[in-house]
Amino acid sequence: MTGRDQPTAPIGPLPLSIAEYAERARSRTDPGVWDFIEGGAGGERTLAANREAFERVRLRPRVLTGTAEPDLSTTILGRRWAAPLGVAPLAYHTLMHPDGEVATARAAGAAGLPVVVSTFAGRSFEDIAQATDSPLWLQVYCFRDRGTTLRLIQRAERAGFEALVLTVDTPRLGRRLRDLRNEFRLPPHITPANLPAEGADYSSPSAHSRTEMDPGLDWSVIAWLRSASRLPVLVKGILTAEDAERAIAAGVDGIVVSNHGGRQLDGAPAALDALAGIATAVRGRCALLVDGGVRTGADVLASLASGADAVLLGRPVLHGLAVGGGDGVRHVLDLAVGELAEAMSLTGTPSAARADSALLTAPAPAA
Ligand code: FNR
Repeated sequence: MTGRDQPTAPIGPLPLSIAEYAERARSRTDPGVWDFIEGGAGGERTLAANREAFERVRLRPRVLTGTAEPDLSTTILGRRWAAPLGVAPLAYHTLMHPDGEVATARAAGAAGLPVVVSTFAGRSFEDIAQATDSPLWLQVYCFRDRGTTLRLIQRAERAGFEALVLTVDTPRLGRRLRDLRNEFRLPPHITPANLPAEGADYSSPSAHSRTEMDPGLDWSVIAWLRSASRLPVLVKGILTAEDAERAIAAGVDGIVVSNHGGRQLDGAPAALDALAGIATAVRGRCALLVDGGVRTGADVLASLASGADAVLLGRPVLHGLAVGGGDGVRHVLDLAVGELAEAMSLTGTPSAARADSALLTAPAPAA
């Protein structure tokens, strides 16, 4: 445990926003761990851009629409989600709370929301699966040793996971200057619960990735995944319409528009800015999700209006865990869902499926 204590409930008045969760979490988290979580690659331009894109958005309020109780629910890959919102894959929830992904899955499950579980989950797939009835998806990193990847997939499948999300933006890990400066190492008790323990050194994520991850993947990996599993396959880390087309041609069931929370190519576009062009190219041919910088219900609605079917929430989930364990995660998710309901009501959006670009004001002219 590198959070400074092991909270089970938020101390003091409940944070009123996801931004307040971040502030509260920071004061409770070891500074090196905080930098690992918060940091981006290089000069953190893309990290900042993710937020700036949402800050620029203006939604068009509509009045007298009779939208008393908007329907937030949505259906993704044949499963109902209570809201168009899920938990993004994040390594080692156990950094923030010993219950880690189990607490997260319990909270998300109680809210009727899915979790994408990282290859580097700190808790076992079986324990995570016990904690929720809502969908669990496995985020897949491809190891040089395909056997390791295959065993990971098979284990998740046996535990009842429902889809594979191949992360495609990490042939190498972005240079995260905060971690380099801090010489960041995972504490010894933080290990990936679903990967082989013997002979592996996971303490430096960048060194581990350099030696163990396959840096040479190409589109044929999708066919390999299809041969390895019957689960639907999504790709995460698409930022161009061309790659979205390639992904669809390769037969994916879904795309996650993402710049990895600004942790990979510094200078890549904000996720929200990349989304609209990709949505136009995809034309509903597969599920379309987005992550990066979503911090309010209005951000969720802006993402739907820009063409996403659903969004994933990253760092705020870890902030919730740090502040209040599973209760904190539940509250973070409830804040996002509650704010989304409010924004839908105030824009006269009766259902998540009806959100479209008419909700957005025209982009401001460049200065
Ligand atoms: C990540 N992300 C990530 N992505 C992935 O595919 N596999 C992983 O194991 C991780 N691990 C991870 C750890 C931490 C600490 C962070 C902050 C991010 C990226 C993640 O899925 C997502 O793309 C971003 O976090 C979304 O941006 P926000 O919501 O954090 O701004």
